[in-house]
Amino acid sequence: MISKKFICSIAASLLATRTHLRSMHKMKNEKIGIIGSGLIGRAWSMLFASVGYKVVLYDILPEQTSNALKEIEKELHALQAKGALRGTLSPAEQFSCISVTTDIGELVSNAIYLQECIPERLEWKRTLYTELADIVCSETIMASSTSTYMPSLFSEQMKQHRENVVVAHPLNPPYYIPLVEIVPAPWTKADVVTRTRELMLEIGQKPVTLTRQIEGFATNRIQYAILNEVWRLVADGVVSVADVDRVMTEGLGLRYALLGPLETAHLNADGVADYFQRFGAEVYAVSQTYGPTPKMEAGGNLSKIAAECEEMVPRAQLPARRAQRDLFLRELCALKKQLE
Ligand SMILES: NC(=O)c1ccc[n+]([C@@H]2O[C@H](COP(=O)([O-])OP(=O)(O)OC[C@H]3O[C@@H](n4cnc5c(N)ncnc54)[C@H](O)[C@@H]3O)[C@@H](O)[C@H]2O)c1
Ligand SMILES: *[C@@H]1O[C@H](CO)[C@@H](O)[C@H](O)[C@H]1NC(C)=O
Repeated sequence: MISKKFICSIAASLLATRTHLRSMHKMKNEKIGIIGSGLIGRAWSMLFASVGYKVVLYDILPEQTSNALKEIEKELHALQAKGALRGTLSPAEQFSCISVTTDIGELVSNAIYLQECIPERLEWKRTLYTELADIVCSETIMASSTSTYMPSLFSEQMKQHRENVVVAHPLNPPYYIPLVEIVPAPWTKADVVTRTRELMLEIGQKPVTLTRQIEGFATNRIQYAILNEVWRLVADGVVSVADVDRVMTEGLGLRYALLGPLETAHLNADGVADYFQRFGAEVYAVSQTYGPTPKMEAGGNLSKIAAECEEMVPRAQLPARRAQRDLFLRELCALKKQLE
């Protein structure tokens, strides 16, 4: 005879299995490893967990991972409260996707993708990638968050698997600025670039792919061109620091949050070909008057720029201004989503 208690326990376990399967359905079984649990490692963990990846966070300092977990849990709930949480999983579900380890072997085992976020020190990165070469399996993608180092610089010496190394460079804060630059080394497999790009799209980031590595990637090359001209204009006494920044915040930058420079040109005439036919010579003539690349060293010009910047935002107010920046970016992201 089958007891009622037995049937109930079967029913209960079936229900539990169904609930379990449902959450398993939203959660993915694939594992992502994060190496380095500082500012950027924490941000990547939240992005991967937002779509249910199994995220494992590693650091050479164990206290860093336990701090990171505490910070992430707080942050996920804060995001939920602000209506800015990504994905469809609850903060608790997202948090349950993230675990930590202090064993790098355990971290890389069965990981489909590793996102490296250790400090920007070339020797440290080289040492880490040399070590990874011996322990990763041949399918694991190794992506670096580096802002400045071309991937050949830290993957060249690897004994094996260097074809699986790529740069996936985020901008800070990655949770609100979706751009990721994907930069291959000369030996990076095309398939690694494609899979990294697909993964970035899946977690809601906006990847751009460079066909080859170049100093500064695309973002910093453009950012530095702007910094050079801004520096020259201030150093030459043409405009003040506050005014040169205003050229961006009250002018160009407003457009650039929606249109890039080429689409801007495209819209400012009867198409981009017409724009450059009409204004190309002018762009060239003005560009001929730019001075030499400034050396941004300590001295009179830097003192002047620093003094004026501190008048705009005293150093003690930097944290408050950063919080305001994050709030602004969050609202801007929401507005962009609405327009899309
Ligand atoms: N902070 C930014 O604005 C920003 C933006 C884009 C890219 N990046 C890049 O992201 C990377 C990380 O930057 P961050 O600001 O998060 O640094 P961070 O100093 O906040 O965190 C680095 C973490 O790595 C850990 N670590 C050091 N050596 C390690 C090792 N061998 N193995 C494992 N963990 C190790 C440290 O203990 C620390 O917790 C850098 O390459 C940086 O250039 C930073
Ligand atoms: C400061 O800028 C001026 C104007 O561009 C330049 O002539 C001068 O050499 C710069 N000074 C230093 C110390 O770089």
